[in-house]
Amino acid sequence: MKNIRQFQIQTMRWRSTATAHTPHVSAGSPEDLEVNNEFITAKHYSEVPGPMPWPIIGNTWRMLPVIGPYQISDLANVSYILYKQYGKIAKLGNLVGRPDLLFVYDADEIEKVYRQEGDTPFRPSMPCLVKYKSQVRGQFFGRLPGVVGVHGEPWREFRTKVQKPVLQPQTVKKYIQPIEEVSDYFIKRMQEMKNENSEMPADFDNEIHKWALECIGRVALDARLGCLRPDLPKNSEPQKIINAAKYALRNVALLELKYPFWRYLPSTLWKKYVSNMDYFIEICMKYIDDAMLRLKNKPQSVNESELSLVERILANESDPKTAYILALDLILVGIDTISMAVCSMLYQIATRPEEQEKIHQEILKILPNKNDKLDASKLEKMVYLKAFIKEVLRMYSTVIGNGRTLQKDMVICGYKIPKGIQLVFPTIVTGNMEEYVTDCKQFKPERWLKQSSGYIHPYASLPYGHGPRMCLGRRFADLEMQVFLAKVIFIYYNYIK
Ligand code: HEM
Repeated sequence: MKNIRQFQIQTMRWRSTATAHTPHVSAGSPEDLEVNNEFITAKHYSEVPGPMPWPIIGNTWRMLPVIGPYQISDLANVSYILYKQYGKIAKLGNLVGRPDLLFVYDADEIEKVYRQEGDTPFRPSMPCLVKYKSQVRGQFFGRLPGVVGVHGEPWREFRTKVQKPVLQPQTVKKYIQPIEEVSDYFIKRMQEMKNENSEMPADFDNEIHKWALECIGRVALDARLGCLRPDLPKNSEPQKIINAAKYALRNVALLELKYPFWRYLPSTLWKKYVSNMDYFIEICMKYIDDAMLRLKNKPQSVNESELSLVERILANESDPKTAYILALDLILVGIDTISMAVCSMLYQIATRPEEQEKIHQEILKILPNKNDKLDASKLEKMVYLKAFIKEVLRMYSTVIGNGRTLQKDMVICGYKIPKGIQLVFPTIVTGNMEEYVTDCKQFKPERWLKQSSGYIHPYASLPYGHGPRMCLGRRFADLEMQVFLAKVIFIYYNYIK
């Protein structure tokens, strides 16, 4: 019964929106005619293949513990399963409290979606953060609540304000030395963490998270948070920040997919999420206010290029809220993403001696002396290291993919897809498909070098997304990974081996 009703609703929605395309026929341009022909011949949305929903709980049961076959903690595997079972397009429909998820594994179609998305793309992300920003603390966030979980004009306005300082290579370069300092300290700590077999502790990823938090604190808050200090007391500020960051990040998937009931009833998980977010705002405000005081005490004559990222934002804005909210967004999405990527890189470097030696030889040429330090021109020359990073992101991307909510009806893979459907582009799968990447099963950083002969579909491996909404922190992410890996190899071969 539920299925029939759902089908009717979808059909009605499809019909009502499909009529909006009719005027295109009379417009008569070859592109319009092509689009309309596509619509006429395309199959109905209900025919998109995918797992059959159960009555009432739809497909949500598939993500429940014990009975569900899909593990929320392993969404990469879920993406592979759906691809293997259903092919280049698969629908995970009838999910409690949320729109259908439509997985697209066709790089040409992914390109088509990105190319038509306009200047305010809609990425469906973190509804719990949306609720927090728009309702729970709506008054604080106001009209421009940041970039994460924000859409349309408010997103565009906020992104326009912060885009230049955050992505300008000139600003990013200023952080080479601070990130090198944090990384040197962390690599020294890694020596102390090793056991007698030179192995890292089982919870090493937790330590990497602390490094990531320390780096992002330096960038987004202009502060050394002290997260890397050994034996942090339980109630110390850095430990509380680490706990809050882990809680806020790790529970998003649980809140979104496994226990979406917080939308109707405030669960314990939800209440704790809110109190963690409140703590984050408090921390951001404290450090940004300190930065503002420092900026006030700087001589007026200081050139903009000498200012830090936070100071540049504060200097251009009368209200420090932009800096508070930017810091919050950068911290929320910039810790787990980079930490998991770095864990993956370290594992690949450790288990691939040939590639490790190539990186070592490259670094030896660029940093020949034991006391050498990094700078922008040296990092520029590390082409193999950069290719290695790209290859790890292609084969083992820890961000499984990107998403978009369709803003208008579209034909994708021969099906009419109604506006409002959430598309998922699993880069972890498309980046490993032979038709898009030559010798895709081989780990070959060389494929990313200029002189390489192999083929890579430009939309198959997009770890940072694409278009105007592409990862805002990508330049910092690249910098942090390059600096950290270069220093691990440099210190290992100069001081440890
Ligand atoms: C290897 C590490 C990272 C990966 C793979 C990654 C990936 C992504 C992806 C796929 C998106 C969505 C892009 C789109 O919609 O087209 C995104 C958005 C974003 N990322 Fe990253 N990211 C990483 C690190 C970081 C870091 C370190 C920061 C902060 C310094 C950051 C900040 C952001 C922000 C703020 C957004 C939202 C942009 C917007 O909606 O306007 N990311 N990231």
